[in-house]
Amino acid sequence: NASPLTDQFHRKHTYLRISLTERCNLRCMYCMPEEGVSLTPSGQLLTTEEIVYLASVFVKQGVTKIRLTGGEPTIRKDFVDLVGHLNLLRSWGLQSITVTTNGIALRRKLPQLVENGLDGINFSLDTLDPLQFQLLTRRNGMERVLESIQMASEYSQLNVKINCVVMRQINEGEVPDFVQYTQHHPVTVRFIEYMPFDGNRWSQHKLVPYRDLLQAIRERFGEPVKLTDEAHDTTKAYCIPGFQGKFGFITSMTDHFCHTCNRVRITADGNLKVCLFGNAEVSLRDYIRQFKTKELDAIRANQHDPTLLAACLAEILEGKDQPLLDIIHDAVQKKK
Ligand code: GTP
Ligand code: 5AD
Ligand code: SF4
Repeated sequence: NASPLTDQFHRKHTYLRISLTERCNLRCMYCMPEEGVSLTPSGQLLTTEEIVYLASVFVKQGVTKIRLTGGEPTIRKDFVDLVGHLNLLRSWGLQSITVTTNGIALRRKLPQLVENGLDGINFSLDTLDPLQFQLLTRRNGMERVLESIQMASEYSQLNVKINCVVMRQINEGEVPDFVQYTQHHPVTVRFIEYMPFDGNRWSQHKLVPYRDLLQAIRERFGEPVKLTDEAHDTTKAYCIPGFQGKFGFITSMTDHFCHTCNRVRITADGNLKVCLFGNAEVSLRDYIRQFKTKELDAIRANQHDPTLLAACLAEILEGKDQPLLDIIHDAVQKKK
């Protein structure tokens, strides 16, 4: 692989998050208002071929992990096919294709996703109580989510995690129940410290520091075992001896992990964002729409035949799109 995406603090960016859509089939209190968010006109969103093209360029720049996110990625029509297309990038160094989903619309798609090469699923689920689920997400469907999780955990090739955003006086009392869930389920439950985002009515009061959660877990299960964390893991991982699953904490607020950050992201409308909290974005879409029509047409024309598509990607990967690389490297260099 060519020079990796290294920034001025020597952080290497090997993990790309691609948002497939801004839409969602839930309305989580902390994320979206009931009426939804104002959506980017669909013509401005990345197409299948644009996503595949950009993913190829990033893999050539050393990206080894791609996570598909949203909104809710599973509601995009080409979601399952996209996983298959990305799977062709393994021979170029891609090692992991994962998705973060609320699990509502996943069940029917699961077998084909696994077939297409998916490695892992992070499910967003903040409660195990159907009424609370209704309050938090303003929709029904907790049973469907649990079924999706169950089904996913039966595939040994899938790494299954549950993301639980913990909010004081809302779901903090359920934390030991989530740990209990790991007794008979081979999944990792991660408790996420509630973070402030524009307009989510975050308040310091709703944040529960992970140390308090750890204490509540001790009180119910005794001292948990600390597991070793990998270099770029955002999670501090633990388990209860004898339990099939694990649990952990994403301590974005009380012990942030910016110094080991290895992530960059592409928004649904094709902007490169080097930090979740940074506002600076640069459009990759505008450049490739203007200058890469031949390559994009070729991906579109060949997308239904993996052999042809692989050949087409090989040709792209063997070339060098210097102006695009300059845009990307410049943005990474400016990362704070
Ligand atoms: P893994 O590869 O399984 O560790 O996934 P992940 O945790 O990176 O991704 P996921 O989509 O499951 O996000 C879970 C939580 O991680 C989010 O709620 C955020 O709190 C946090 N997170 C993800 N990406 C970033 C990031 O770039 N910066 C910060 N500060 N937090 C992030
Ligand atoms: N704080 C922490 N996590 C959040 N998520 C969404 N909003 C917040 C927030 N304000 C989580 C979702 C999902 C993950 C991608 O981000 O629950 O699991
Ligand atoms: Fe937001 Fe995720 Fe909830 Fe959808 S499921 S509203 S994207 S937090």
